[in-house]
Amino acid sequence: MIKGVIFDLDGVIVSTDNLHYKAWKKMADKENIEFNKQINNRLRGISRKASLEIILEKAKKDYTDVQKKELTDYKNTYYRQLLETLTKDDILPGITDILNTLQENNIKIAIGSSSKNAKKILKKIELYNQFAAITDGTNITQSKPHPEVFLIAAKKLDLLPINLAVVEDAKSGILAAKKAHMTAFATGNAKNSQEKDYDFEQLIDVVLQD
Ligand code: BG6
Ligand code: MG
Repeated sequence: MIKGVIFDLDGVIVSTDNLHYKAWKKMADKENIEFNKQINNRLRGISRKASLEIILEKAKKDYTDVQKKELTDYKNTYYRQLLETLTKDDILPGITDILNTLQENNIKIAIGSSSKNAKKILKKIELYNQFAAITDGTNITQSKPHPEVFLIAAKKLDLLPINLAVVEDAKSGILAAKKAHMTAFATGNAKNSQEKDYDFEQLIDVVLQD
């Protein structure tokens, strides 16, 4: 029986893809590193540090740890400026209704995101107070596909993994949900994942039938 749903944030509640792209692109251009939307797609669900390593696959020189930190800081400073433009109109279609329906049926809702900017984003889109628990990049030591982010959210909700569903747009997130023994619902790119249990469109039916 599903008693709670953990939502990924970027790409599920709000589309920040393009903002991440713009900010990484600015950094990559500064460093003369090839970067395009295809590479950006590989960064979904992946931590900031791990994302940089993927981008540096195209770099023509080696970077020290200090230089890498400077690059992620440079990207994040610009990304946070871009986040200032977010409003509640950026909540993805259908999400507000789904959150309300779940809550009306006493299903707990939480955020399980790899982003260290999750709380800022939730405040900008005016959803910060709606979730029973928020677990994000500031709470975890291992990023998806490790299940840590969802297991911490389960503890915060005081629910067992077997009673939880996860909604994800990243393959790494679907893998994390399955490793956590939770039911995985896929949206966006994650729909191609073989490990998903259902598509996001089935969430309300599956949860309420249960
Ligand atoms: C995830 C995004 O939610 O957060 C990734 O899908 C991103 O693309 C990651 O790299 C970390 O985000 P942030 O905001 O901490 O740099
Ligand atoms: Mg995502």
